[in-house]
Amino acid sequence: MHQSDKEEMREETPLKHLAIIMDGNGRWAQERGLKRTKGHEKGADVIRDITTYCANHPTIETVTFYAFSTENWKRPKLEVEFLMKLLDTYLKKELPVYQKHHVRFLAIGDMTRFSKPLQKRIKETEARTKENHSLTQVLALNYGGRAEIVGVVNDIVKEGKSVLTEKDISRALQTPYSDIDLLIRTSGEERISNFLLWQISYAEFYFTPTLWPDFNTQELDSIITHYTQRTRRFGGLQ
Ligand code: IPE
Ligand code: IPE
Ligand code: MG
Repeated sequence: MHQSDKEEMREETPLKHLAIIMDGNGRWAQERGLKRTKGHEKGADVIRDITTYCANHPTIETVTFYAFSTENWKRPKLEVEFLMKLLDTYLKKELPVYQKHHVRFLAIGDMTRFSKPLQKRIKETEARTKENHSLTQVLALNYGGRAEIVGVVNDIVKEGKSVLTEKDISRALQTPYSDIDLLIRTSGEERISNFLLWQISYAEFYFTPTLWPDFNTQELDSIITHYTQRTRRFGGLQ
């Protein structure tokens, strides 16, 4: 669905920006006696299904997935290497899917620590999908909410400003439509783990025990129904 059609429907259902902390890949694999990497592989397929659902949803304009945090480098080297390779394979396989469903791909985070070929793949995928308008899929890669805020503050200060407003920071953040409407975390953990700290200020939270590789569009659909029944007051009284 084109973003301008989504614009018209937004008044009734204000779910514009969905963010997801995909957690539980390792546990999913371990429960089955498999290597953790199998959970990551299955998890990548789920990203595809959820993105396609969002592209066809009447109001969602952006879906942001937490794929690799600034803290995930602490994991064993082999797991980190596997995740980097998986990301490259995912993006390569994904290009026709992005084009078919008119999805624009964007990456946020500090990618300078990634290999040159992976950085190139990310840049190329962004460039080749930049005219797509049914959905923006954002992958947070080597992303940390605190690092992101420090980065934009330093950029603004470098431009010569010494007193900042909330607008200055919101505008400078890499995320499009910076305010998150709904944040989902899978796997039963109920924490933020340094994700989108600025953007979740008035987000609705939903924690599900489902492990990410078992998450699916039916569950997302029922979470969204639940979300639309909530009253978001933003500090007011309505
Ligand atoms: C989420 O699953 C994927 C990444 C953080 C890359 P985990 O790998 O954290 O899975 P668990 O939490 O160990 O089960
Ligand atoms: C958060 O999951 C990061 C991603 C989903 C990419 P983690 O599994 O790394 O978070 P903690 O360590 O449980 O907080
Ligand atoms: Mg985890």
